[in-house]
Amino acid sequence: MNRTLSPLGKDLIGLEELSGDQIRSILDTAEPFKEISERRIKKVPVLRGKTIVNLFMEPSTRTRISFEFAEKRLSADTVNISASGSSVQKGETLVDTARNLEAMRIDMVVIRHGSSGAARFLADRIPSNVINAGDGSHEHPTQALLDMLTIRDHRDSLEGLRVCIVGDILHSRVARSNIFGLLKLGAEVAVCGPMTLMPVGIDALGVRVFRRIEEAIEWADVLNVLRLQLERMKGGYVPSLREYNRYFGVTVPRLEEAPRDILVLHPGPMNRGVEIDSDVADGPHSVILQQVTNGVAIRMAVLYLLAGGAPEQAEAAKKGEVA
Ligand code: CP
Repeated sequence: MNRTLSPLGKDLIGLEELSGDQIRSILDTAEPFKEISERRIKKVPVLRGKTIVNLFMEPSTRTRISFEFAEKRLSADTVNISASGSSVQKGETLVDTARNLEAMRIDMVVIRHGSSGAARFLADRIPSNVINAGDGSHEHPTQALLDMLTIRDHRDSLEGLRVCIVGDILHSRVARSNIFGLLKLGAEVAVCGPMTLMPVGIDALGVRVFRRIEEAIEWADVLNVLRLQLERMKGGYVPSLREYNRYFGVTVPRLEEAPRDILVLHPGPMNRGVEIDSDVADGPHSVILQQVTNGVAIRMAVLYLLAGGAPEQAEAAKKGEVA
């Protein structure tokens, strides 16, 4: 496979940069890859000989492990680097770190970073494929892709579906990637949360804004509930977590008022009892763990496509017929 022929271009930085057809192509490519994780021996030779560096400069459980499983299941060689324990702690810059990795002949970098724009900054400076695993409050494209795959599993099509993203929109890269992706696939998108956690001019992106969770639940087919990003808040955004739960928490009594069977997503990590109650997170509306399962297939699809794999050959690739 030749990375210069990738249908996505060299890098995956955000869904803002992709067309609806490119997004659909990633979702469709993920479908056959789902089955690999259900096998007894979870391995195909699709990325044999490729070396991938997972450069995680911010904490992560789901994304980091999911990328690592996806890489290993496609037979790539992988190395994990985090800020702690690397020379970043001695003041080495991001580009110097990446150039030293390149000198060891790598093929791809998966990067998570606290600064918005870090993934694009790196992609413009190194020849390896760069995949954004979340950069500041900019984008988290593979999270939105796995969210869309999960919704599609339950609702067939995103066209005309009403999806409301609830919570801390201001700090959320997941919200931005979901908004770009869902709109491109024909969904209606809304956001709901306290005005202190709502970016100014958010409606210019083409989304509805709800100030009350009850109105959002009445309108929506799908709720994607976001975590309050306490680590990015310097204070004053919400009076208290208890009050946030009282006014915006997704609870069973609120869902019981919904006029239709509502699907509940959460990208994790969850603050149980704050933005979502445990009875909802573990209840019949929730597809939260299915999102995590789908994350591996989505990341396999992205790695495969960026390595130059053809979407129409994904079925053959998973059978080991195309290397
Ligand atoms: N959803 C998500 O990005 O989770 P992690 O921070 O655990 O990777």
